[in-house]
Amino acid sequence: MISPATPRTPAGVDPKALAAVRDLVARAERPVVLTGAGMSAESGVPTFRDAQTGLWERYSPEQLATEEAFLADPALVWSWYLWRARMVRGVEPNAGHRAVAAWQERVPGLTVATQNVDDLHERAGAEVLAHLHGSLFAFRCAACDAPAEVDVTALGDDDAPGSEADLEALLREEPPVCAACGTGRIRPDIVWFGELLPAAEWDATYAALDACDLCVVVGTSGLVQPAASLPFVALGAGAPVVEVNPDVTELSSAVTHRLAGPAGLVLPAVVG
Ligand code: APR
Repeated sequence: MISPATPRTPAGVDPKALAAVRDLVARAERPVVLTGAGMSAESGVPTFRDAQTGLWERYSPEQLATEEAFLADPALVWSWYLWRARMVRGVEPNAGHRAVAAWQERVPGLTVATQNVDDLHERAGAEVLAHLHGSLFAFRCAACDAPAEVDVTALGDDDAPGSEADLEALLREEPPVCAACGTGRIRPDIVWFGELLPAAEWDATYAALDACDLCVVVGTSGLVQPAASLPFVALGAGAPVVEVNPDVTELSSAVTHRLAGPAGLVLPAVVG
């Protein structure tokens, strides 16, 4: 007889692998959850490998998420980030974010480190050790690095945050000039291609993985370094690594268990 506490195995997931992972989860005292864009996909935030829509069809994220792009056309890059920040404001954490938060409540030694620049883990109630690629809601001067406050709710089209109409309004915005140095432009505090990851976040994540007894990697293609190397720190430390992703990735052949399904279905089945 199936006990009421045993969740259904999501379609596509190997039941044996799910049982093995549930057992690892039940015993883990210092687990680390590493997340990428797929974690937020079911909330409605497009991943980086998804086709972009509207005006953004003409650009790849790699063309917009660079310092060169910002210097060449500050208003275009600025509006892309404001638009994304406003779009994220309009969506909610999904069942996967909530499962991670519930797991952390049960196991306070659980660490969350994310490549995502949204705040959906926090809004689900989890504490995040590291935003390895920065945040859509933090800003700084491109010249002197002074932090800056930008109220993303006060810009664009209030009636339709994240929409095409919102974008039209945002495209008229120029990045403000820094109040501290008076010359630099304000940019999102996000790690662009070719830039270094924040050292404190990187070191803290590395240390957590080196000491972990389980690592769960959710929704990342494993294509962008150095974040893609992090699961190997856990493997090197002798910890099992579980991948949660509907698609095969660069990491799949190296992991201990692969759960082939979406985060919003698989994580509640793993943790619940
Ligand atoms: N649940 C789990 N995984 C999913 C889901 C889902 N519902 N939907 C999609 N995925 C997986 C995809 O199969 C893919 O492997 O999420 C992954 C998303 O990959 P990317 O878009 O490459 O996201 P990520 O790995 O986080 O990108 C890394 O690239 O553009 C930069 O800095 C940006 O942080 C980003 C980095």
